[in-house]
Amino acid sequence: MTTIDYCERIPNNVDLASDRKLQRALESWQPKFLEWWQEMGPALPTQDVYLRTAVDVGREGWAHFGHVALPEYRWGIFLSERDPNRKIAFGDHKGEDAWQQVPGEHRADLQRLIVIQGDTEPASVEQQRRLGMTAPSLYDLRNLFQVNVEEGRHLWAMVYLLHAYFGRNGREEAEQLLLRNSGSEDAPRILGAFNEETPDWLSFFMFTYFTDRDGKYQLGTLKESAFDPLSRTCEFMLKEEAHHMMVGTTGVDRVVTRTVELMKEHDTEDIASRGGVPLDVLQKYMNFHYSVSLDLFGGDASTNVANYYTAGLKGRWLEERRTDDHRLRDAFSTIPFIEADGTLIEKELPALTALNVDLRNEYIGDCSNGVKRWNAILADAGIDTTFSLPHVGFNRAVGTFSGHRITPDGKVVDQATWDAQVTDYLPTADDKKHVESLMQPVYEPGKIASWVAPPKTGINGQPFNYEYVHLA
Ligand SMILES: [Fe+2]
Ligand SMILES: [Fe+2]
Repeated sequence: MTTIDYCERIPNNVDLASDRKLQRALESWQPKFLEWWQEMGPALPTQDVYLRTAVDVGREGWAHFGHVALPEYRWGIFLSERDPNRKIAFGDHKGEDAWQQVPGEHRADLQRLIVIQGDTEPASVEQQRRLGMTAPSLYDLRNLFQVNVEEGRHLWAMVYLLHAYFGRNGREEAEQLLLRNSGSEDAPRILGAFNEETPDWLSFFMFTYFTDRDGKYQLGTLKESAFDPLSRTCEFMLKEEAHHMMVGTTGVDRVVTRTVELMKEHDTEDIASRGGVPLDVLQKYMNFHYSVSLDLFGGDASTNVANYYTAGLKGRWLEERRTDDHRLRDAFSTIPFIEADGTLIEKELPALTALNVDLRNEYIGDCSNGVKRWNAILADAGIDTTFSLPHVGFNRAVGTFSGHRITPDGKVVDQATWDAQVTDYLPTADDKKHVESLMQPVYEPGKIASWVAPPKTGINGQPFNYEYVHLA
């Protein structure tokens, strides 16, 4: 069951060949996907790219590496192995068998959750489409394309569920996933952060650190779902996501490392004119990407998320490691909140209603690990500046803090004060222009752009100077 069948037009481990109707439906979606990839996927022409392709869904040796022409990448449908004894871990149905079909009363909600997740996957490919033109090295270019093909595969993962379990409605939603586009006026992507462009590689590293990490946490909640095919799909997606996290984490590491090198070499903090990204600009990029990613967790108090949990559709991060009753009917949580008059308080809410904040807190804890890493690079170089994550209410457009102005260190200020100081908090037009000016492509094996250090290790044991990409 775990081995993936590559003889089929659509590689899969779900025995697609045994369901001719489903197979035909997906085979008629496939050319539309490829058309979308040609039109909205990577704009830089290449001959081939050193990519990993999933060949198995087991723990060991699940991927194969080799040079592949991008349009010939084998996008397919891979679910983690089924545990025939799996029980629902939370909510009203706790202890019952996991669902192999969609219960009628949860059809609309489950479909909505799958569509929202599915919409983010192609959106990020669209956002990153032009980045290949300015890649700092072939190694980075390869990583970008790896992320892109896997986000494309994640779209396949969600489209499979829509086709296999949601009938005609599901098929219609699968069409729509290719028709909405990031930043489009008429048909934008569903979530705000996925309509922002990723204009440069610093933004790409910040995006894969902060925004892709939101994706990791959302997938973590769906992996707990009582709807077993969704759970198994997300479990396998999480395996691929680990690489995307690595790209973001080490990407920012390498920018910080290079900044520090340039500061030492020139004995100044002012390294903008010396081909680097100054520390304060890095902090502003972190502030921006972190705050827009926090918005993706939705409202601070949400009855929807409470209902999803109780119904068993969406669990908590690492649900089974929690030591409470997994029903939360009588539990309370304390969340940060802002009163209408602008006073920051702690507020007690039913734990079920506060589940978005529970997930957000897990995410914040994870993000702070990155900041610790980057501060360790500064400390090792003897630099006594530190990075920090801004206050949870900083620059927020969703939830209790939206409509308020809160500084990165958590002071509530009026609009005039904000306007006077915002250039210290968020990237300015000049900062962005400077970063843009650094984005000169480097396509020679073993060479790298001025603003970022080379990686410590290559991909799959290959050296940094390996020919990861052959340009067309
Ligand atoms: Fe993804
Ligand atoms: Fe991702």
